[in-house]
Amino acid sequence: MYEIISKRTLNPTVTMMDIYAPLVAKKAEPGQFIILRVDEEGERIPLTVAGYDRAAGTVKIIFQIVGATTMKLDRKNVGECLADFCGPLGRATETDGLGKVCIVGGGVGCAIALPVAQKLHSLGCEVHSVIGFRNKDLLILEDEFRACSARLDVMTDDGSYGRKGVVTEPLKEALEGGEKYDMVIAIGPLVMMKFVVATARPFGVPVTVSMNPIMIDGTGMCGGCRLTVGGSTKFACVDGPDFDGYEVDFDEAMERSRMYSDFEARAREEACNLFKKEVE
Ligand SMILES: Cc1cc2nc3c(=O)[nH]c(=O)nc-3n(C[C@H](O)[C@H](O)[C@H](O)COP(=O)(O)OP(=O)(O)OC[C@H]3O[C@@H](n4cnc5c(N)ncnc54)[C@H](O)[C@@H]3O)c2cc1C
Ligand code: FES
Repeated sequence: MYEIISKRTLNPTVTMMDIYAPLVAKKAEPGQFIILRVDEEGERIPLTVAGYDRAAGTVKIIFQIVGATTMKLDRKNVGECLADFCGPLGRATETDGLGKVCIVGGGVGCAIALPVAQKLHSLGCEVHSVIGFRNKDLLILEDEFRACSARLDVMTDDGSYGRKGVVTEPLKEALEGGEKYDMVIAIGPLVMMKFVVATARPFGVPVTVSMNPIMIDGTGMCGGCRLTVGGSTKFACVDGPDFDGYEVDFDEAMERSRMYSDFEARAREEACNLFKKEVE
């Protein structure tokens, strides 16, 4: 069983936990993910490895409470255990040979981007980070990004914190100003990653995106996470989650991501009703 060693609320909808999982902690690298089940009857959900402490045997996860399983996970407390915590899965983010990188994170995507930024910084790469949120209340990990970035732009859609605007604005300004990035790494909502690619395209900068489609087995068997990349079918769980942003068919990925929304809304409602009954 995988014990919850620490738990911290980062904002009203995002929680960070350290989980005791020594075998995962031993091998995990930034960009990889785990699949967990909260309890024996629970569904499997993928979450990115947001950090690890190999000596303590712990793995950090940061998750947004969006539906039934993340609600259930958020109700677990320090000392309680998760039924399964399987990984590390997927390919680690390529960090070799990068001298200057712009990391663009949107919302909870910043949790996935942070360990990549930290690893690049530790390798001596100059990291420029642009992190964006809908508003100040949803801001997460600002201090952590500041610690590993030579330059940090914080954006909010409504201007309630940092600069008002979207994450592509500082990226465009930097590129127009002559910044020469070896790579732009974008992690966040599909539409954000699509626009980061469009912003970088005229400058010919390589863009890596992290794709998070629905995953079931996480081992390349079920086909649930398939994407079209460069005209071929790829499985995000084994071929990714990172892909060349110029090759990804974002429109198809967005359409597929909406496929289960009715089912998910029903499950969310059932979970809410269950929790309400428990409280009464
Ligand atoms: C490789 C990968 C890494 C991820 N890392 C993180 C992370 O670090 N932090 C984080 O907050 N979220 C992450 N996600 C998304 C996370 O898996 C979903 O938010 C979670 O599964 C939602 O489950 P739910 O039952 O609470 O919500 P639901 O109501 O079931 O779903 C809400 C939304 O979550 C997504 N989702 C649901 N089930 C899955 C599934 N089995 N696989 C993938 N997406 C799903 C869909 O977009 C869906 O619309 C990651 C997804 C993938 C594929
Ligand atoms: S999750 Fe089943 S093939 Fe990727």
